[in-house]
Amino acid sequence: MKSLILRALAAVAAVASLAKADGGDFSVLTMNVAGLPAILNSNEVPGDKATNAGNIGKLFAKYGYDVIHVQEDFAYHAYIYATDNHPFRTPTSGTVIVGDGMNTLSNFDWVNFTRVRWNKCSNASGADCLTPKGFTFMRVKVAESVYVDFYNLHTDAGTENDDEAARTANVQQVADYIDKWSAGNAVVVMGDTNSRYSRTADNIRLFGTQNGLTDAWVQVERNGVIPTVESLCSNPSTTDSCETVDKVLYRGSSIFKLEATFFNYESKKFLQPDGNILSDHNPVGVNFTYSLNGNLRQSGYFGGPHGTWFSDLSALATKSKPAAKVLTFRGARRLDSVGLTLTDGTVFTHGGTGGDPATLTLGSGEFWTSAVLCQAKYKDRTRNFYIKATTSKGNTLESGSSTGDCATFTAPSGWQIVGYMGQDGDEMDQLAFIYAPQ
Ligand SMILES: *[C@@H]1O[C@H](CO)[C@@H](O)[C@H](O)[C@H]1NC(C)=O
Ligand SMILES: *[C@@H]1O[C@H](CO)[C@@H](O)[C@H](O)[C@H]1NC(C)=O
Ligand SMILES: *[C@@H]1O[C@H](CO)[C@@H](O)[C@H](O)[C@H]1NC(C)=O
Repeated sequence: MKSLILRALAAVAAVASLAKADGGDFSVLTMNVAGLPAILNSNEVPGDKATNAGNIGKLFAKYGYDVIHVQEDFAYHAYIYATDNHPFRTPTSGTVIVGDGMNTLSNFDWVNFTRVRWNKCSNASGADCLTPKGFTFMRVKVAESVYVDFYNLHTDAGTENDDEAARTANVQQVADYIDKWSAGNAVVVMGDTNSRYSRTADNIRLFGTQNGLTDAWVQVERNGVIPTVESLCSNPSTTDSCETVDKVLYRGSSIFKLEATFFNYESKKFLQPDGNILSDHNPVGVNFTYSLNGNLRQSGYFGGPHGTWFSDLSALATKSKPAAKVLTFRGARRLDSVGLTLTDGTVFTHGGTGGDPATLTLGSGEFWTSAVLCQAKYKDRTRNFYIKATTSKGNTLESGSSTGDCATFTAPSGWQIVGYMGQDGDEMDQLAFIYAPQ
């Protein structure tokens, strides 16, 4: 009996340690910080806005959410950053009229932070055209092999016809951007959507129908049932069952499963010392767990974030036991193209047609196990200049010209390189490798 229990305990411990290596969790918060200049808008928040901003920063540091998105972070931005202590933070784009009011505070580093302006705004109500609002994109490294494309957004406010037209165009713009720039990738969209499921003129469902995102609130608080009846939140909210316009939506990838495990209006944590609110919006907190799938992994990115996004991930996700048979590179002074042919005949090619070709055919039982990349600047932009592949049998293939800035990417033990992701044009701007078990 006792040994049975011990064995059961050991099995539980083994599963736990596996879970630790192959998964983990992180927390996020989105908050409209009501930072319009007080003379323009009091946001109906009592107290001094600079003092309130300092308190918001203090609470960001105290609760330590891994990734925080803020909106309306205009005139009191410096007060938030003065008391917050997150190691990675976006520089402000400026106060109102100049800036978009969006920033990210993160415990994780990222690549390719980009601010994108809305194609459409409306002056009907809320003076949304006054400042260049829009959305931001960044590819956040949560852990080894766990990259999540984070989108912050602040859509057009108001419910007049022109507002609705602008807002539905805003949501469509983000959804199309996700299709183009996050193909194959895990995504978290969180911000002030100014949208409600219960308002039929809003198209917030698009993130589900077009991009396959799940709304954390709908999932955790409503068992997956999208509401059709309006349920307004008080502030601070006394319940998580009401709907707010600040939303967190997400999807995983074929490399890892992502799941929202916790949803909460964090409002009661964000109060002034006298109990008053710090913002006219309830801050939204969500916890996620991620667990790596058994059949695909990825390396980090190397090179510059220019060119067009490409990824072999979706093609690889449909295959069982993919393996590279032929490697094909093109290069001269720089790296023009990378490609490979899988044993099932599938061909992946990225980059341009310049440079000289170089190929290597792998023998049976031979796998591509590591690669060196070298980068440098050309026309002021960083890109990959060189690649050298090494196989499990020690054969090599190189292309382009080596530089003084190189990195080695090695597949995990028992794994191999089977494809690519990154950004390309005529040449290989940015590159990461996709791994599969041998
Ligand atoms: C959610 O994440 C926060 C921050 O890491 C943590 O303090 C809290 O315990 C988590 N909540 C749950 C229910 O897991
Ligand atoms: C909104 O108003 C501003 C200032 O009057 C004007 O410059 C802008 O063209 C207007 N935009 C739209 C979409 O109506
Ligand atoms: C990455 O940054 C470049 C500019 O540096 C931009 O053109 C491109 O759109 C960005 N990529 C993504 C995925 O946002």
